[in-house]
Amino acid sequence: MTAEPTAAELVAGLERREARWLLEEFGSDPARLAAAVARRRSGEPLQYIVGHWPFRGLDLDLDSRVLIPRPETEELVGVALDVLAARQVAAPTLLDLGCGSGAIGLSLLAELAARGVLATLVAVDVSPGALAVARRNARKHALTTVSFLEGSWYEALDASLAGRIDLIVANPPYVGAAEYGTLDPVIAHEPRGALVAADARGVPGLADLVRVVEGAPHWLSAGGALVVEHGDNHREALRRVAYGVGLRDLVDHDDLAGKPRILVAHRP
Ligand SMILES: C[S@@+](CC[C@H](N)C(=O)[O-])C[C@H]1O[C@@H](n2cnc3c(N)ncnc32)[C@H](O)[C@@H]1O
Repeated sequence: MTAEPTAAELVAGLERREARWLLEEFGSDPARLAAAVARRRSGEPLQYIVGHWPFRGLDLDLDSRVLIPRPETEELVGVALDVLAARQVAAPTLLDLGCGSGAIGLSLLAELAARGVLATLVAVDVSPGALAVARRNARKHALTTVSFLEGSWYEALDASLAGRIDLIVANPPYVGAAEYGTLDPVIAHEPRGALVAADARGVPGLADLVRVVEGAPHWLSAGGALVVEHGDNHREALRRVAYGVGLRDLVDHDDLAGKPRILVAHRP
């Protein structure tokens, strides 16, 4: 009779950190561990296999209906918190456009609450699957001051919110179709609609960013801010769009790798 492989034998050959994650998650159940290792060997991202992943202070449930939140988006949350702190709004209203797993908006709610600020969040996504994951993450972390809306960018918002949003955060799709084909094939496991955007104004992947920036002045309160993540080829074009629709006090941030990544823009 052949002995069943041990847990250590099952994960042999995987990168150490990944083997450790899988052992921690499934080590007590050899059948689930074997299935998880097979998924990893077939190229599926570890985060979907484990089914949850840390993002700033939150452990977020994840599956293939949502983008795997990226480290540069953790930086965006830090920038957004600084922007809000500078304004000292007692009970801010936040809008997370293209919320995916809820990473940005739910982190803001949780971190503001830890600072004694009770914010209200509206989280929008065009994908019902993404909204289901985001709702689960809100329940998981007992974040109750949030409503979820299905729709394209600003289309699903109630008209009464016009001029009342203190902070809009967004990490829209911004990869051009041509660039998408050149990226690590592992991203084919993520929803294409979370990553790829049409071109606009002759710039690859700019179209959704333009929608987000152009719509912002109508919904922001006076002094309110938009904090948006963008691709490293978008900074100049996006600044022009923001300026053109009347947004001011534009501030650029690079990511930790030194690439242009975040635009902050204010409604005067
Ligand atoms: C790059 S992902 C960001 C997800 C999450 N905010 C994060 O940072 O991890 C972009 C998200 O925008 C959503 N999206 C794409 N097109 C949209 C649209 N027209 N209106 C609203 N959301 C959209 C996608 O479904 C996806 O969840």
